Amino acid sequence: MRFLAILTLLAPMFGSPSDSWAGDGKPRDAIASDRDRSIPAIIPAESDRSPIALALSADGSKLVTANQTSNSVALVDLAAGRVLDEIVTGEKPAGIAITRDGTIAVVTHWYGYDLAMIRIEGDRMKIAGRVKIGAEPRGVVLSPDGKTAYAAVGAANEVVRVDLPTLATTGRLTVGREPRGIAISADGATILVGNSRSRNVSLINTSDFQITRTIPIDGDNLRQAAIDKEGKFAYIAGMKNRGFATVSNHIDLGWVLGQRLTRVSLVDDSPFDTLSLDPRGKATADAHGVAIGGDGRLLAVSCGGTHEVLLFRTDLGELPWRTGNSRDLIPQELLKNDGRFRRVDLGGRPTELAFAPDHKTLYVANYLNNSIQIVDCEKAELARTIELGGPSEPSLARRGEILFHEARRSFNQWYSCNTCHSDGHTDGLDFDTLNDGYQDLSTAHLKSRKKVPTLRRVSFTAPWTWHGWQKSLEQATVESFTKSMRGPAPSAEEAKAVVAYLGTLDYPPNPNREPDGSLSDAAKRGESIFRSAKAACATCHKGPEFTDGKIHIVGLEESYDVYRGFNTPSLRGVYDKDPYLHDGRSATLREMLKGPHGPETVSGGEPLSDSEIADLIAYLKTL
Ligand code: HEC
Ligand code: HEC
Repeated sequence: MRFLAILTLLAPMFGSPSDSWAGDGKPRDAIASDRDRSIPAIIPAESDRSPIALALSADGSKLVTANQTSNSVALVDLAAGRVLDEIVTGEKPAGIAITRDGTIAVVTHWYGYDLAMIRIEGDRMKIAGRVKIGAEPRGVVLSPDGKTAYAAVGAANEVVRVDLPTLATTGRLTVGREPRGIAISADGATILVGNSRSRNVSLINTSDFQITRTIPIDGDNLRQAAIDKEGKFAYIAGMKNRGFATVSNHIDLGWVLGQRLTRVSLVDDSPFDTLSLDPRGKATADAHGVAIGGDGRLLAVSCGGTHEVLLFRTDLGELPWRTGNSRDLIPQELLKNDGRFRRVDLGGRPTELAFAPDHKTLYVANYLNNSIQIVDCEKAELARTIELGGPSEPSLARRGEILFHEARRSFNQWYSCNTCHSDGHTDGLDFDTLNDGYQDLSTAHLKSRKKVPTLRRVSFTAPWTWHGWQKSLEQATVESFTKSMRGPAPSAEEAKAVVAYLGTLDYPPNPNREPDGSLSDAAKRGESIFRSAKAACATCHKGPEFTDGKIHIVGLEESYDVYRGFNTPSLRGVYDKDPYLHDGRSATLREMLKGPHGPETVSGGEPLSDSEIADLIAYLKTL
């Protein structure tokens, strides 16, 4: 076995080998932020790499990848087609950028909450320093001079500016909910960030670091963004929730959800344009990456769930963009096979994209393939694959991860588990999966939609579904494949694999605790209220997962409910589970506690005062 040693000084939290908590079946007492978060300091050759992002030097010779499963960054020599160096950088690398001259790279850590600066010298990399930037950072870009980094910090809802020479944060800007994809114009003047959970994008002027426009768009789950060379348009890939019940004919019409490419103007106030991506009968799923090549003549979009990259030619006639809202299906005229729209099957899970300076070679980070793929866009075919390393056989949990991202298991390949349970978490949206037993299809999408629950630590929170009627997690998985996806039932082995994958999903560290992990005074007062007889929260939300695993009547029942009452949900990581309650009816915890889930409704107690609510929320956010 080949081991790659790290030469770098990692923060103390990366000291000892990882504890693998998954699969022992026992709930832990410590709350997620208390557990040992150490990651292995070496990368076993057998570790999956899972590149989620990539960046290319200006001359096209070097490429760096953010490898999410192995907590590492790889430096790839594109001419030789091999990995020159790989180092552990932090917990779950998510976004990566490289200076034009290829001497410095920056990487963000989704669960590590920092940005690491990497010096690249010849064929070696070294960590030059790191800076904490906030909870769940994802996309990152660099100014043209390579001196300033801008990162989308998801759980903080901010774009954070970092001065690289001093490794100091020099600005924080509140944008929309869960910013993720970020792009900078070639002149460095404008930044676009996609707010993946608030259906809008923010434009930022870098000279004064201010938001110039917030543009509502017709898409959720926003992923990679790109800006054209002239700085005229920005493009972002995402998904549109249409909300109808998950039965085959709705799915086929694009009425449950569909994929979209969105274009916004950077030079005037015109509204956004969309291009729907789904051909009926053979849809696309999990649009993720976007890149502009061919000197503007080519648009590439990756679709992780359908394992492909879509190539659009813009020089054979203007693409049929629709302004202001989107269609359900791809425009018919693109299906004429005239070369304007082509699909290149790549296998695995293609994520971020980048074009080579020749404008026709496309680099694809393929997460599930543990590789960088090189697509020849003139021939519309896979030209070459550069392996980043990985096991010869996928583990049981990895086989589950593959199934979780597999849209071909849904009706006409419209979506995967990951489309709704984004990265195993929630996208904050409501869907009608018929999992609540309610089947009135004419109006079901209006009434009985349920918020997508997170799947983090789901193995520990029996029973399942909002109504809590499901007593087996494997059976819940079978229901998901057959009802939510309208696909074939998984084999027993497949269901086991998916459950093993679910067992690997954990919460990120809690960002609302004091630096030493303790509670603020307000949170301590909130904890007393939580446990008091007056609020009585802890009568139901108790134990290590803050659930008693029981069904309660809490005043939110509807006459049409098939199963009476609701299953006490876990309150771990509740700060990031908005909107709240089974139908997402409360946008904030405050709204929830002052309304539908205040003690007066839930347990017939006294309403809480405003200051008690504030303290209680301070506590809830630390769970
Ligand atoms: C169309 C969106 C969508 C898709 C696709 C989807 N789910 Fe879900 N999932 C939901 C919603 C909504 C619920 C809540 C349903 C309810 O409680 O009635 C849910 C509930 C669950 C639960 C129960 C969680 C809990 O804490 O009670 C599990 C487990 C689950 N899904 C797994 C999966 C798996 C595995 C797949 C893929 C095979 C999948 N889901 C596909 C939307 C989706
Ligand atoms: C009688 C049991 C019970 C008590 C008491 C109770 N809850 Fe709940 N809680 C539930 C149930 C059941 C739900 C799910 C209801 C729904 O979504 O329709 C819920 C939902 C929630 C949610 C939403 C979680 C999410 O993911 O959307 C939060 C937050 C919450 N409770 C906090 C509290 C707090 C704080 C208190 C005390 C003021 C409290 N609960 C008291 C049973 C209880």
